[in-house]
Amino acid sequence: MSPTSPAPHRTGPRPGLGAAMLRRKPVDDLVAEAGHGPLRRSLGLGQLTMLSIGATLGSGIFVVLGEAVPVAGPAVVASFVLAGVTALFSALSYAELAGMIPLSGSSYSYAYATLGELVAWVCGWCLVLEYGVSVASVAVGWGQYVNELLRLAFGVTLPDAISGPPGQGGLVNVPAIVVVLLGMLLLLSGAKESARANAVMVVVKIATLVLFCALAFTAVQARNFTPFLPLGLAGLSAGGAKLFFSYIGFDAASTAGEEARNPQRDLPRAILLSLAIVTVLYCLVAVAAVGALPWQQFGDQEAALSHVLTSVLHNDLWAAVLAVGAIVAISSVVLTVLYGQTRILFAMSRDGLVPKALSTVHPKTGVPRTNTLVVSGFVAVLAAFVPLGKLADATSIGTLFAFGLVNIAVLLLRRRRPEAPRTFRVPFSPVTPILGVACCAYLMISLDGATWLVFGGWMLLGLALYFGYGIRRSRLGALR
Ligand code: ALA
Repeated sequence: MSPTSPAPHRTGPRPGLGAAMLRRKPVDDLVAEAGHGPLRRSLGLGQLTMLSIGATLGSGIFVVLGEAVPVAGPAVVASFVLAGVTALFSALSYAELAGMIPLSGSSYSYAYATLGELVAWVCGWCLVLEYGVSVASVAVGWGQYVNELLRLAFGVTLPDAISGPPGQGGLVNVPAIVVVLLGMLLLLSGAKESARANAVMVVVKIATLVLFCALAFTAVQARNFTPFLPLGLAGLSAGGAKLFFSYIGFDAASTAGEEARNPQRDLPRAILLSLAIVTVLYCLVAVAAVGALPWQQFGDQEAALSHVLTSVLHNDLWAAVLAVGAIVAISSVVLTVLYGQTRILFAMSRDGLVPKALSTVHPKTGVPRTNTLVVSGFVAVLAAFVPLGKLADATSIGTLFAFGLVNIAVLLLRRRRPEAPRTFRVPFSPVTPILGVACCAYLMISLDGATWLVFGGWMLLGLALYFGYGIRRSRLGALR
């Protein structure tokens, strides 16, 4: 094991509570930290781009699309654009900061450099919603497509008792546990090995969506697009808020800051390239889906894209092929999002805000092993036993909050450290980051009251943990 260096003993008086919450990590210290961490630098631009696509393209397009169509109608295409533009503003800010502060902690580290320890903690806590909790709901989507495949191929489905959590007609969600454990095993074998497996899965998922478009476009009818806004602009933005989930993950490359071969150059490129690729794919898939099947017929289908193909082609073969693609697609989300969560906690642990065991690295594989086991165990339990109905929205609200902070961090660093080297600069700053904050706020308020309640409870829990543990164990606090 090669733990990070121990925190020195506190020398002066205890800082006041306010000072403790506001203490910041200097950018230069962060950059220096990135230069000699224990993780191995093995990932190039291609793998980093695949990492972000892997984390992004998954249950949002294969599952959540089916929930957004009844909310937005054919305007779901515009909802994808709205969510994509929101993601783009934040992606530009991520690109600037990832090139400047290439640490595994991603936005948590950017917030630590600009807004102080408490906000950094809150950001890291929101990232647990974006990564740890979202991967649990993604794993549940995986089980839905496994069932869909079994139904199409063999005319059977898994018994309810083992394919859903208590409260949703089951006892335990076994498929969700299986996919999380598979992801864990790959991650334990090493970052390079995981990146290779992910690259293969990404190729399969892109091919699956291209195939879907090719098949569905043969059935597109212009009349399915009128009226375009049957549920008004409110429907369009509610659809956008829902679909924001499908863009979550483009920032995953930024969690590989300490494993990238040339992070300053490659991280900004990987983030923007992956977002461009998924946005084009999403819009094409949305046009094909609502163009082929009248929006009223989407109903409450869990495996929405398979449903479209079965309905318009009147045969199950292609739907089964699509289900296989979806299973591979969602597996890669599980793998890469688990990866991201372990690296963010690694950075938080190195800073002392969560237990030290989460930043010890296995000498042979270069993997934070305890961390990977803890994160996978937590996600598996969550996915297996907790009804996650509201979770996709809760994930979105936490992510939007973190993205908003990243935009603010860009604004602050431009003022405080205008001379610091940047390999990518957000164009038209400060307008772009300000628009980024505004879009995030707009989508947050478009989410419903229940989601805000979940978010409020999550924040209270996070604050209790910070004041009960992090503030006293902070490495930065000890250093000062
Ligand atoms: N964007 C990821 C997905 O859609 C979370 O599965």
